Amino acid sequence: MAIDKKFVDQLLNVTSKAALASSYLVGKKDKIAADKAAVDSMRSNLNNFDIQGQIVIGEGELDEAPMLYIGEKLGTNKGPEFDIAVDPLEGTNFAANNLPGALSVIAIAEKDNLFKAPETYMEKISTKVNDKNVVDLDYTVKQNISNLSDYLNKNPENITACILDRPRHKEIIEELRKLKVNIKLITDGDVSGALLVTEEKYNVDIFLGTGGGPEGVLAAAALDSFDCNFQGRFLFETEEDKKRAKKMGINDFGKKYHLKEIVSGDSIFCATGITSGDLVSGIEIKDNEFISETLVTHKSSGLKKLIKLKQKLR
Ligand code: FBP
Repeated sequence: MAIDKKFVDQLLNVTSKAALASSYLVGKKDKIAADKAAVDSMRSNLNNFDIQGQIVIGEGELDEAPMLYIGEKLGTNKGPEFDIAVDPLEGTNFAANNLPGALSVIAIAEKDNLFKAPETYMEKISTKVNDKNVVDLDYTVKQNISNLSDYLNKNPENITACILDRPRHKEIIEELRKLKVNIKLITDGDVSGALLVTEEKYNVDIFLGTGGGPEGVLAAAALDSFDCNFQGRFLFETEEDKKRAKKMGINDFGKKYHLKEIVSGDSIFCATGITSGDLVSGIEIKDNEFISETLVTHKSSGLKKLIKLKQKLR
């Protein structure tokens, strides 16, 4: 069943308000306070909705997160049942240090349609190209770039790959360099990184590498509306990780998940800028008003656009 369009406006409002709340702490060198402001705002606004919501991606599990923890119920307990994924402040370093790219992000799907991802790393890959066997998590970097170049009819020199700047990516980056691919290194924020493949204007052909699993699920929700390709594989490094995964129903620890196994049915995704970045502009406050910019997608209605909102400050 399609999710009612009224929830698009409601969620747009939720991430806009959370972004505003966090924006007051931009540049204050306090990641925790900036995150808490967004969490508090998001939670209190979601609790006003006539929904039976449950967090499937949140700020951690109950023992480590007092709010927006995995399993937390949200809403008035009337209305449709939703799975909710949140990252109230994506890019805590960006907000704390007043750097570009901090976002407030939410995605919802009908109950049991969003993957319940544990807080572990995930190997990810996203591309605009959705045809089978062009880009795949199981292929080598060389194979993926070669297939993509052939498919797009571009030389590798004209392909751009986005990847988090991390020591764990040394080999991938070296391989990309040897292939003469243009590398777009990002210091944080791989929800945005994965989404840069959605539109030509961002000039990114492929996103790859390892980042947070929850961020992977959020990105997948938006990529679904853009008909893009996404694959992810969780990395369970410790016995503790495996135990937690089992509790969430994951038994095959090396499984590669396709987008449709991560998000299915209808979904809504909203990402509002806190500080301006590649994807969206940050919060602007003028006199008694604030302007927010949000990337919004709604799978069933085909909505996928940037929405600017001007609202009164209270
Ligand atoms: P936070 O907002 O929690 O700081 O996450 C930022 C981020 O860059 C994510 O976008 C990414 O998935 C993850 O951290 C990567 O983790 P790590 O910094 O441990 O490599």
